[in-house]
Amino acid sequence: MKTNVNLQPYNSFGFKAVAKHFAEINDIQELEELIHSDVFKSEKHLILSGGNNVLFQDEFFDGLVIHINTKGVEILKEDENEVVVRAQAGEDWPDFVRFTVEHGWYGLENLAHIPGKVGAAPVQNIGAYGMELKDSFLQCEAIHLKTGEKRVFSKTECAFGYRNSVFKNELKGQYAITSVDFMLHKQAELKLEYGNIKAYLSEHGIETPTLQQLHDAICAIRDTKLPDVNQIGNAGSFFKNPVIEKAQFKTLQKDYPNIPHYDEPNGKVKVPAGWLIEHSGPSTLRQAQGPQDSGTLSWKGWRNEHVGVYEKQALVLVHYGGGTGHDIVELACNIQDSVEAKFGIRISPEVNFV
Ligand code: EPU
Repeated sequence: MKTNVNLQPYNSFGFKAVAKHFAEINDIQELEELIHSDVFKSEKHLILSGGNNVLFQDEFFDGLVIHINTKGVEILKEDENEVVVRAQAGEDWPDFVRFTVEHGWYGLENLAHIPGKVGAAPVQNIGAYGMELKDSFLQCEAIHLKTGEKRVFSKTECAFGYRNSVFKNELKGQYAITSVDFMLHKQAELKLEYGNIKAYLSEHGIETPTLQQLHDAICAIRDTKLPDVNQIGNAGSFFKNPVIEKAQFKTLQKDYPNIPHYDEPNGKVKVPAGWLIEHSGPSTLRQAQGPQDSGTLSWKGWRNEHVGVYEKQALVLVHYGGGTGHDIVELACNIQDSVEAKFGIRISPEVNFV
């Protein structure tokens, strides 16, 4: 265990935050021992996986940060149709997806290139391009952070929703996920319907993509839209796409006929937060207060010295360096207020605030 560790390399926003105590876990036994230590019992603690979805608001974390770095991938079961594969929590997610694709296993390819670690993936049920983690999830193993008890969580017990699970709700902060089992398929089942996948493939002269070609296409598409965390600090989508009642959507659609939307199975409608943010701006709030300001500035591409809204995807807030978590919080609040003033929808963050 170390003390006063700078967490800058451990959060993709790249904010400076010093942890009073920091423990790196390289095997599960180390975690079991840690749970019974005095520091663990006396300090508040935070499980930090890849740090790709956290916002450190303060420059000091007064507690114990537990960085899970356990490695290993193993095949648990295999037949001619399916394979069950287990990945340890500290495995790099994009590397793991690449590994499954190279083996010809279908199920995770649309989730390629999402920065993060395996153990964090179920917490927010990561999703992209018409696919979610829950679609291939079989079960996960976790350790209770008070008792040290090991527990297997089935898919039902995880209560997955859109960017949501039991680990973000009732059991928040109570368990550390130690490994995840996936059920993958050997028969070709590609999901190409979403967004611009087909357009990208046809531009590249690919009519019937292989698994590997789809994986590579997803990586390339993500690269054009999302900033590289090694160059610009960010946490991917900062907000969730709001789900609203159909009646509210119909009213909005009258004023904004081009508003993109996806019908949800429960009769509700999901609206892309990126569109709402792009179509409001710093002047929206002032406009709502009176007709004197007719500025139409969009948040998309807006920036101050330290933070901003990514120019190619308004859902992503970025840190250009030298800023603090407070700068992002302030920007996020202004965005929420202006979107609400214009569209009557309060968007909520996807990122975890610490
Ligand atoms: N849009 C805009 N302006 C923008 C961004 C988006 O008008 O600045 C519109 C687009 O025109 C499109 C719609 O919003 O009609 C949807 O955009 P996109 O396909 O880029 O997806 P998204 O809803 O913005 C979600 C996920 C992403 C995931 C993509 C692709 C959430 C919160 N985000 O974004 O996930 O990569 O779909 O499937 O659901 C992440 O979670 O970190 C993440 C990047």
